[in-house]
Amino acid sequence: MNVYDSGKIAACLVRLGYQQTGMLEIADLVIVNTCTIRAKAEQKAFSFLGRLARLKTKKPGLIIGVGGCVAQQEGEKILRRVPQVDLVFGTQAIERLSLLIPKIEDKRCRIVDVGLMEKPDLPDAVPDRLIDDPVSAFVTIMRGCDNFCTYCVVPHVRGREASRHPDRIIKEIGDLVQSGVKEVTLLGQNVNSYGKKEGLCSFANLLSRVNSIDGLLRIRFTTSHPKDFGSDVINAFKTYEKVCDHIHLPVQSGSDRILDRMNRKYTRALYLDKISELRDNCSAIAITSDIIVGFPGETEADFAETLDLINTIQFDGLFAFVYSDRPNAPAMHFKNKISEDEKRKRLQAVLALQENVTRMKNQALVGSVQPILVEGVSKKQSSGRFKRPLTTAQWTGRTPTNKIVNFYHTDSRQRRADIFPGKIVRTRIEEAYAHSLWGEPVGLKSTTGGLKGEESYAA
Ligand code: 5AD
Ligand code: SF4
Repeated sequence: MNVYDSGKIAACLVRLGYQQTGMLEIADLVIVNTCTIRAKAEQKAFSFLGRLARLKTKKPGLIIGVGGCVAQQEGEKILRRVPQVDLVFGTQAIERLSLLIPKIEDKRCRIVDVGLMEKPDLPDAVPDRLIDDPVSAFVTIMRGCDNFCTYCVVPHVRGREASRHPDRIIKEIGDLVQSGVKEVTLLGQNVNSYGKKEGLCSFANLLSRVNSIDGLLRIRFTTSHPKDFGSDVINAFKTYEKVCDHIHLPVQSGSDRILDRMNRKYTRALYLDKISELRDNCSAIAITSDIIVGFPGETEADFAETLDLINTIQFDGLFAFVYSDRPNAPAMHFKNKISEDEKRKRLQAVLALQENVTRMKNQALVGSVQPILVEGVSKKQSSGRFKRPLTTAQWTGRTPTNKIVNFYHTDSRQRRADIFPGKIVRTRIEEAYAHSLWGEPVGLKSTTGGLKGEESYAA
């Protein structure tokens, strides 16, 4: 969501006459778009602001802005903590940036704009934004959250849930596709409740409309909440060919007692039922999840239930976090906090268990042929890990199940490039690693390089 918002912020700055630079030292203005979901994210934001403050002592004209959830949460306290900051703007103030920045430029005043409306105005116009990735783009379909999980800061910094009108979402995706985008990820804190409050169409209907956009190849969405995840969306994986076979369904804990204290409003049994229904409907589906370890009062027995759930479900991937207190989230006042040492131990146990499962899941794909949406040349290209001729590129892309696949390809010079970002390439999986797969394109006329090395073949 912050990536999406950063694109809007960047477009606004460009309209005001700024140019993007990758070099912090030469920037006239820096906006830090912050996250406060966990304590570590907030610490990172402040340590980066410390770096900017030092930069400003060398370059007093530098304008520093702080946006996003830390800005929303801390407001003018940020001005006291980091006196070099000029602007603090909250999660609902992005649309006002084009007015705020000229004021600071003209008057060199300091501004805090962190109002949070109960019923936020969602801007009518399709947002103008810069996107980094020419192939895959995020599209926010709703903002805020009404769920109030007891550990979570989101409802307090992003406000109440509000959905955008489907016509505007469809128009935005249509424009992205016109500009070359092939894949969209629909974003919301709880996409399954899309449109309910406003009486708009259901999320499954929205998927159906997005599915019929010509030129779009793949649809992803995040995040789903187990309590609202219904059969209509489960069926969408089968019904709509562009909806990718991957679901991120955060479970947070395997213990009913802890789920209740987290105010998640579902049980372990209900979660397991959803997983069965998903797998019955779509046997290829990849399932990933989030886990919080060390929630206040989590006993050894509760934690054992979480490990057991992970073992039972065999997720394709897992994001695991140690619990941290967040301002205004009720769990900060809960008793029986777990020590930092114990939380780390539990985190390691989860990660070790999942690592084996992920490897096995990846290994099971070896020998299969997967359609890869090519994203670009892989970052490893320049690392020298695999010594290849210069005409050979190491490409990277993803399976519909969201697994990263890297492969080599050499274009024959006489023909136009037959691999490029945005193309779907059928790839035979050759090797499985912990976080990625290695493949070999099939059915291409030009030469491709093998994994280990020296051989190449003409398919
Ligand atoms: N402590 C640790 N993890 C948290 N998450 C959200 N709030 C907290 C917190 N206070 C995790 C949840 C959520 C993910 C985005 O971040 O697992 O799904
Ligand atoms: Fe936070 Fe719960 Fe809302 Fe997700 S559903 S954003 S965890 S309050």
